[in-house]
Amino acid sequence: MQDQAGEPRYSGATPAEASPPCRTAEAAAALRLWHTVADAEPAIFDDRAVHPLLGPGTRRMLALVPGSAWGLRALEGMQPELAGLRGQVVVRARFAEDALDRAVAGGCRQLLILGAGLDTTGLRRPELLRSATLTEVDQPTMQAWKRAHLPPATAQRTRFVPVELQSERLDERLRAAGVSDTAPLLATWLGCTYYLPPPAIQATLAALGRVAAPGSEIALDYWLPTERLQWRPRAFLQGVQLALASQQDPLLGLMTPDDLARYADEAGWRVAEDMSPAQLHARWLSGRRDSLSIPAFSRCARLVRAPS
Ligand SMILES: C[S@@+](CC[C@H](N)C(=O)[O-])C[C@H]1O[C@@H](n2cnc3c(N)ncnc32)[C@H](O)[C@@H]1O
Repeated sequence: MQDQAGEPRYSGATPAEASPPCRTAEAAAALRLWHTVADAEPAIFDDRAVHPLLGPGTRRMLALVPGSAWGLRALEGMQPELAGLRGQVVVRARFAEDALDRAVAGGCRQLLILGAGLDTTGLRRPELLRSATLTEVDQPTMQAWKRAHLPPATAQRTRFVPVELQSERLDERLRAAGVSDTAPLLATWLGCTYYLPPPAIQATLAALGRVAAPGSEIALDYWLPTERLQWRPRAFLQGVQLALASQQDPLLGLMTPDDLARYADEAGWRVAEDMSPAQLHARWLSGRRDSLSIPAFSRCARLVRAPS
């Protein structure tokens, strides 16, 4: 389906006329949408709803994808890691969405999206917002942009909490926004830990620990340090690192499973699940007819609030 400008049409919202200020958030969103256009069905995570939030340049580029799928596959045949980036973005989204669905089915009514970027939970799942509160946390400029570009009905039903996680008190902001420490919450924290230095990761887990009632959970993803990798994924991650650093988005918080377990323990959380790339592949990618893969540095974990 195409609109009059020849772009694929994914939702009724008016497309953005400028690009979001956070390029990594837009890139992650573009990869989720690209997945629904270029990869085999069924989609692991269907985020066609994000289309109007992408900048015009990215929407134009995505409009070319269906026609040039063969070119894409040829490129990925030479450089399979490219499909790994798309694979980890959609698999982490599915990992978090499954955790969210389980939490809501278990009675959780406080949903928190940390480092929300162009997350579309509110857009895609309006039924959730009838029974649960949705709170998005992000850097102030990114959040203001998104708030201005969401359909008003979705924006009105979302609580926006601008927080700079490297320097501001997340728990105070969450309490001020109405997040309660007497009921469990489910927080997702995707595509964000690796941009934060370890003290900010620790501070964020500690702040969440102070507002999270027993039964709360965090679903997050993280990337391994380069020295833990074989030469090929290490060279690829070093390339990603260079590319991001040149865009002023350096990777500051690569960590090992032991680091995560220690940070979680110090902050009152327990690692309930920590999935390796092989486990993520086995759960969501095995038997697929496309080139999706999981990079050797990408892991997803679920933390539960330890009893105090
Ligand atoms: C790569 S995007 C991921 C967005 C989304 N969670 C996803 O998976 O597509 C990283 C997000 O983390 C946010 N972020 C990065 N550093 C942050 C910080 N210091 N404080 C608050 N948010 C931050 C960015 O603004 C951006 O929205």
